[in-house]
Amino acid sequence: MGRMIAKFSAHFVLLLVFSLSNDVVVVSAAGGDGQFTYQGFAAANLTVDGLATVTASGLLVLTNFTYQAKAHAFHPAPLRFLGESSTAAAGANASGGAGADVARSFSTAFVFAIVSGYDGLSDHGLAFVVAPTANLSAANAGQYLGFLNATNGTASGQILAVELDTIMNPEFHDISSNHVGIDANSLMSTQARPAGYYGDGDGAFRELRLNSRQPMQVWVDYDGQAKQLNVTLSPVQVPKPKKPLLSQAIDLSTVMAEEMYVGFSSATGVVNTHHYVLGWSFGFDGPAPPLDLSKLPRLPRFGPKPRSKVLDIVLPLATALLVAAVLAAVFFVVWRRRRFAEVREDWEDEFGPHRFAYKDLFRATDGFKDRNLLGVGGFGRVYRGVLPESNLEIAVKRVSHDSRQGIREFVAEVVSIGRLRHRNLVQLLGYCRRKNELLLVYDYMANGSLDKYLHERNVTTLFWPERLWIIKGVASGLLYLHEDWEQVVIHRDIKASNVLLDSAMNGRLGDFGLARLYDHGTDPKTTHVVGTMGYLAPELVRTGKASPLTDVFAFGVFLLEVTCGRRPIETDEHDKRVVLVDLVLEHHRNGSIVGAADPRLTGKFDVEEVALVLKLGLLCSHPLPGARPSMRNVMQYLERGGKSAPDLSPSYVSYSMMAIMQNEGFDSFIMSGGPRLATSIGTVSGASSMTIMSEGR
Ligand SMILES: *[C@@H]1O[C@H](CO)[C@@H](O)[C@H](O)[C@H]1NC(C)=O
Ligand SMILES: *[C@@H]1O[C@H](CO)[C@@H](O)[C@H](O)[C@H]1NC(C)=O
Ligand SMILES: *[C@@H]1O[C@H](CO)[C@@H](O)[C@H](O)[C@H]1NC(C)=O
Ligand SMILES: *[C@@H]1O[C@H](CO)[C@@H](O)[C@H](O)[C@H]1NC(C)=O
Ligand SMILES: *[C@@H]1O[C@H](CO)[C@@H](O)[C@H](O)[C@H]1NC(C)=O
Ligand SMILES: *[C@@H]1O[C@H](CO)[C@@H](O)[C@H](O)[C@H]1NC(C)=O
Ligand SMILES: *[C@@H]1O[C@H](CO)[C@@H](O)[C@H](O)[C@H]1NC(C)=O
Repeated sequence: MGRMIAKFSAHFVLLLVFSLSNDVVVVSAAGGDGQFTYQGFAAANLTVDGLATVTASGLLVLTNFTYQAKAHAFHPAPLRFLGESSTAAAGANASGGAGADVARSFSTAFVFAIVSGYDGLSDHGLAFVVAPTANLSAANAGQYLGFLNATNGTASGQILAVELDTIMNPEFHDISSNHVGIDANSLMSTQARPAGYYGDGDGAFRELRLNSRQPMQVWVDYDGQAKQLNVTLSPVQVPKPKKPLLSQAIDLSTVMAEEMYVGFSSATGVVNTHHYVLGWSFGFDGPAPPLDLSKLPRLPRFGPKPRSKVLDIVLPLATALLVAAVLAAVFFVVWRRRRFAEVREDWEDEFGPHRFAYKDLFRATDGFKDRNLLGVGGFGRVYRGVLPESNLEIAVKRVSHDSRQGIREFVAEVVSIGRLRHRNLVQLLGYCRRKNELLLVYDYMANGSLDKYLHERNVTTLFWPERLWIIKGVASGLLYLHEDWEQVVIHRDIKASNVLLDSAMNGRLGDFGLARLYDHGTDPKTTHVVGTMGYLAPELVRTGKASPLTDVFAFGVFLLEVTCGRRPIETDEHDKRVVLVDLVLEHHRNGSIVGAADPRLTGKFDVEEVALVLKLGLLCSHPLPGARPSMRNVMQYLERGGKSAPDLSPSYVSYSMMAIMQNEGFDSFIMSGGPRLATSIGTVSGASSMTIMSEGR
């Protein structure tokens, strides 16, 4: 509603202005004072031709960016320029008619602007023209400014112009490419000066650039009596200077016809230029009515919209921030991808549920920080962690592998082993593969590995009932592997350090890194010899064939290790190597097998139970596989208790493990600390030879 009112009142004002200007524009063909004022040309009745147009806002656009074209805009009616001398002189010469060809005094003021597409270079310019006709179709464009042509002068010899010339044309003896000139019947100016004005205060000349894209005002004043034509120029913000730019003594009565048209002429050449006239007033016999500059139409904005200072600062800043943010995001994504990169192949799909995302493991272990390191084994580092979603405590083992050879079989076995379920086995939860690295995820065992309780002096040792409980647990787990699961699983690396203790101090067999699986009723294949020195059955070294009985051998050594608190092979105070089996045999031959029991037990144990376990250990670690019991038999012995100790016949106990080992060629290993026993154990198992080495020290 308010808008409608505003619109209505705008129309009303327009109408008012229109009628007002109609009042102001007094056209006198009969020698009246033909005076007019145009504050913008919206309501003016100009005669225009060529490129000239009046915009809706009232701006007179003489030229636009059209090459070699003319433009004219004239006040519609001709004005009487020649007056009787009586009028001009205000005298009373009664003779009459004698002064008829005296040019009248007149004055005009207009505001113009030259806007070029190029800074400092513009087309030819424009001119205020007093011509005998408004039809200048015979004139030329370009340097002729649209009001003359190559014929020097006009046919009638009657034309006056004040040129605002922005191109220096030598053929017209132009003084510069920025001058104001008075032209009478010729483009060769009667008088010309560089554009500028004289300051009222100091009288100093101040140059102006006509094509500066700034509006400027021009005054043309003719004194008919003094026969003097003045031209004054100034920037719009400067009031009319007292001293004119040009002051020419000229009798216009020879130049003027009886009736003349006043207006503007302009022409383009090849430079994109707009010539504008913003306002114009004219009057005879006195100064032209002053223009109210505040009412003039505005020039169209030139060039790109000037940006605010705020944008100048904010925009680059925002852009920079955006770019930075995008870069950071890209960097982050790439970093994350690389950091959490995994290796995943099609054949792994079937193992899907057992596959862990590296990201989860990374989070679970706080990025594999050292404070989460549980231990460093022959296989790699083991870290403790908590899975983000399930809050499940896990142990993650990082195993490096450097070729993809064998990895498929290995993963298949890992997954098979993952399906084993027994309370005395450390549950393998799954795996994850990265480049050159395999991660195995296990249940976390709160109390760590058994060997530290046996061999580390600063750790409280275990009482005999605890040790027996652990032994029974491990035996039960091994029985499950050998006989009670769908396949036969040979662990191949049974030793105290691979027995882990859960929070209830149950012994759990862990680290299936070397485990081999095969179907019940088939024969295990010959493989590379792997395992840990001191736990290796003689026939395993000889034939390379791992079997449940080679596990039983290692279990036997394990029994002795747990009971005696000694490692399978140790160096005594005389720097002599002592094989545990031989040591226990020695005690047995001396009739006091329990004398071999761990001194840290300080004799607090059931003698029969200790004797049973030691004898069972000797039996299991018998050099001849045929003499060893199966795990089921071992379980029976353990469950029946102390009364059922196996009978060790003298022949059984006459061997010396050291001698056998030397026969088998172990000696060099024992003495040297162990070169690689397994030459090529495959990708992951390669690390197992390190186990041998580290244990052989
Ligand atoms: C210039 O003005 C004329 C007349 O108004 C018009 O026909 C022409 O299209 C204009 N040219 C440009 C480039 O604006
Ligand atoms: C404009 O001026 C011409 C010539 O004097 C005249 O014929 C015409 O009627 C005028 N038009 C208006 C709208 O005043
Ligand atoms: C009036 O005109 C005559 C002849 O044209 C001239 O001689 C005379 O000086 C004039 N008088 C005045 C007062 O100008
Ligand atoms: C202007 O004059 C030319 C002859 O010089 C003529 O052909 C043309 O029709 C005139 N135009 C107008 C609008 O009178
Ligand atoms: C034009 O006229 C002037 C004098 O009015 C003369 O000096 C000049 O040579 C003329 N030029 C041509 C091209 O006719
Ligand atoms: C130049 O203009 C005059 C009239 O002003 C005309 O008579 C003459 O033919 C024109 N010459 C050319 C070459 O157009
Ligand atoms: C023209 O300028 C001179 C000063 O240079 C001045 O004396 C004279 O009155 C002016 N004439 C007009 C008509 O403004």
